[in-house]
Amino acid sequence: MQFGVCYYPEHWPEARWAEDARRMRALGLSIVRIAEFAWSRIEPQEGRFAWEWLDRAVATLSAAGLKIVLGTPTAAPPAWLSRGYPDTLPVDEQGRRRNFGSRRHYCPNHPAYRRFSRRIVSLMAAHFAAHPAVVGWQIDNEFGGGGTARCYCEHCADAFRRWLQARYGTLEALNQAWGTVFWSQEYSAWEQIGPPILTGSAANPSHTLDYYRFASDSWVDYQQMQLEALGPHRRADQFATHNGMGLFFTALDYFRLAAALDFASLDNYPTAGPDRIRGELYGDETPLAVYAPDVGDPAITGFELDLARGWKDAPFWIMEQQPGHVNWGWYNPGVPPETVRLWTWQAAAAGAEAVVFFRWRAALFAQEQYHAGLLKHDASPDVGFRALERMAGERQQLERLASGPVQAQAALLFDYEDLWALQLQPHRRGFSYLRLAFTWYRAFQRLGIPVDIRPYDAELSRYRLVLAPSLHLGHAGLAARLEAYVQGGGALLAGVRSGFKTPSNLVTEQPLPGEYTGLFGVHVQAWQALPPGVALRLEGDLPLAQAEASLWAESLAAQAPGVEFPLRYASGAFEAQGALSVRPLGKGSCSYLGWHPSFGQAVELLGWLAERAGVARLAELPPGLIAQRRAGQTVLLNFSADPLSAVVSGAAVEVEPRGVRLLGED
Ligand code: GAL
Ligand code: ZN
Repeated sequence: MQFGVCYYPEHWPEARWAEDARRMRALGLSIVRIAEFAWSRIEPQEGRFAWEWLDRAVATLSAAGLKIVLGTPTAAPPAWLSRGYPDTLPVDEQGRRRNFGSRRHYCPNHPAYRRFSRRIVSLMAAHFAAHPAVVGWQIDNEFGGGGTARCYCEHCADAFRRWLQARYGTLEALNQAWGTVFWSQEYSAWEQIGPPILTGSAANPSHTLDYYRFASDSWVDYQQMQLEALGPHRRADQFATHNGMGLFFTALDYFRLAAALDFASLDNYPTAGPDRIRGELYGDETPLAVYAPDVGDPAITGFELDLARGWKDAPFWIMEQQPGHVNWGWYNPGVPPETVRLWTWQAAAAGAEAVVFFRWRAALFAQEQYHAGLLKHDASPDVGFRALERMAGERQQLERLASGPVQAQAALLFDYEDLWALQLQPHRRGFSYLRLAFTWYRAFQRLGIPVDIRPYDAELSRYRLVLAPSLHLGHAGLAARLEAYVQGGGALLAGVRSGFKTPSNLVTEQPLPGEYTGLFGVHVQAWQALPPGVALRLEGDLPLAQAEASLWAESLAAQAPGVEFPLRYASGAFEAQGALSVRPLGKGSCSYLGWHPSFGQAVELLGWLAERAGVARLAELPPGLIAQRRAGQTVLLNFSADPLSAVVSGAAVEVEPRGVRLLGED
């Protein structure tokens, strides 16, 4: 378990560097990330490179014993580039060109921008790769941040047409795949196709879904270009990674982006990111009120951490860890050292191998003046610094925890394309794939059941329970793989709107749930979006405390022998029809859940499923306490400002406010 910090030597007088480096080491930091926004200092004029200052920074930091992660500086092109080549600036969904004066102001498909990027990355690699202190590379910084994930410029339009040609081959196939006969949208030449924005009325959802895929692929491709530019110089022992963002950012398919990286990284900001997404994730439900005001929401942070582990099914880095208060949330509460320690332990328990704090010292100038660093503006220690001092005595325990894998018997399947498709056609306000997946995640966390978050092509046989919030778009071969999983003894539950669409976002011609009918042995006979205040009563052998379906409901009928309905609708249009099915199949069983569960229902349903599937709970937890399991140890984390007790193997275990307890090893 390594600790590190993000440092901006270009923000401070050179005379300070050695003292900063010494204090970093004294604090137990071994890693320093630099240079990811330093393009204007590295290439002050087009084609004129200035490496000396960065050489001296690397020399000073490494002389103090720090290992260096070099960021490629492409997230922030300098003014000569943006002004000299103004069409490298990206175009947003409103058709407006973004301006110079911040960061992320570039189009990943612009040929000249790609040339400039390739050149600086390859020169940087040639210059620094041999340095023994350089341990790895961070490619760019947070692709898509600041609302720049999807560019709609003319270069993207070109690249999109090429992407479509590769995907569909012929215009006939494309017209078919998008259903363009509707509203006379048929294309008779590739040049007629543009980005799906500023249309007279709603754009075609097949067109838009493909644009979302294309935009995500554009980053994968742009990253690949940088990996290749690093390639000939990068030492075999130097890693390449990219720092991804939390749940508020889902425009990029991080499973695909991470595939080419040595490991994934996450930027972890528990009190800020959730502000942007809490409304969508909770809808009309309220977050648990027991959390301390400064800890963020452990369900959101937990989902982000478990998802980051799932991007590659491997340990990951926290490349930026919130060190205290930040500047970009709604309220940016002050944070005590205990909270920074709690987040660090939460990350370690979820599979982090390194935690790199953002940033060393609070900035005196520009956009992030109100963001804490480990040091205050005046260079005295701030709360993150205090937290690291406290953790100095815990390094061995953290090391021990990080020495093995996270152990989960259950998987939550997660798919960015299903998320996008349902975002485009939610049909009911408040219907969100992300919310549905998060509702299940919260239930896992509430019950103390560790869970992996995995894509559809994951190997499932190691799990006892697999939960698919919605298998919405068709997915070649998935039904057969899920069936093999169930036949082999697995328990599977899939949720509403499964099998509804083809891969190109047309509705299936088959009865619902389309290609999954054979697996679940049920037909969805009808579906309804339920407005607020309208609910259908539920009854059956599986009593629920809150026995009504709201938000979205589908009525189920058996289509194969052996299908049972532990819950049926007991009022409204679906009265007497199935609401939850169970079908024993081979050595396992599969279930289709016909409504969008509330959090309370998800907890009850998951408890029932987990017990049948033999999935262990780590502990009985009161709200506010969470549990994780790594390297044979159970970690209990208390996110409230009061002491809380869990019951573990029949015995009560108390955890102090904002505290951490480590239990046993097997
Ligand atoms: C991250 C970003 C950093 C810094 C930080 C502030 O999203 O990568 O450069 O802006 O937020 O919290
Ligand atoms: Zn573009």
